[in-house]
Amino acid sequence: CMSALPFYIVGNWKSNKTVAEAVLWWQEFSALWRKSPPDISHIKVILCPAFIHLQLLDSLIKLTTIPLHLGLQDVSGFPGGAYTGQVSAQMAKDMAHFTLVGHSERRKYVKETDVELGAKVNHAVAFGIEPIYCVQSEEMTIPSNCQTVAYEPVWAIGTGTPDTPQNARKVAGAIKASHSEVKTVIYGGSVTAQNVAAYVEESQIGGVLPGGASLTPLSFYQLILNAAS
Ligand code: PGA
Repeated sequence: CMSALPFYIVGNWKSNKTVAEAVLWWQEFSALWRKSPPDISHIKVILCPAFIHLQLLDSLIKLTTIPLHLGLQDVSGFPGGAYTGQVSAQMAKDMAHFTLVGHSERRKYVKETDVELGAKVNHAVAFGIEPIYCVQSEEMTIPSNCQTVAYEPVWAIGTGTPDTPQNARKVAGAIKASHSEVKTVIYGGSVTAQNVAAYVEESQIGGVLPGGASLTPLSFYQLILNAAS
């Protein structure tokens, strides 16, 4: 990827890990990093853990110089206040500067709608959190204030069968062609340390969104290494 924009690596832990497991992950990941730091001058590494891990990971990361950013997996579409169970952008903005919005699993299991997702984007943007807006095809609606989009075809998620870099490039190109405000399109769906380099090579693809491959420290570290080299 020759563009001036950084290549995004967005790890999505989904609904995984106890706090103890998150700490262990960080200990192993940071040890790997310290031993041999990847050259990520052109890469932005973002980890999206569950809300319960944010504060601890934020503190642990700040004890080091490892440039790992934190993101949310979801954000409230309501303002702060009497909205039981919701985590608002204002609450999380000091720890997370990114958020996934409309991940296919949330559209499927929580039945999130375009209207709700638009509200989530608005609240995120209002508090300086960059939305990473997830769509499953180039035909889907994208709010006009989204600069970063994730193309994640449902059939490729958690299946071990990724979309080809060539097709992901076509979809990314189509999304950018029809949405002038979109600067970065990243690809999600069975991205691993073994296949990440092929996505890096496609100039239209501005990053990757690994789920399963972010869960173990070694596979996430190797994925970053292979994207960097
Ligand atoms: P996966 O998830 O890497 O486990 O396939 C990707 C995604 O949720 O987009």
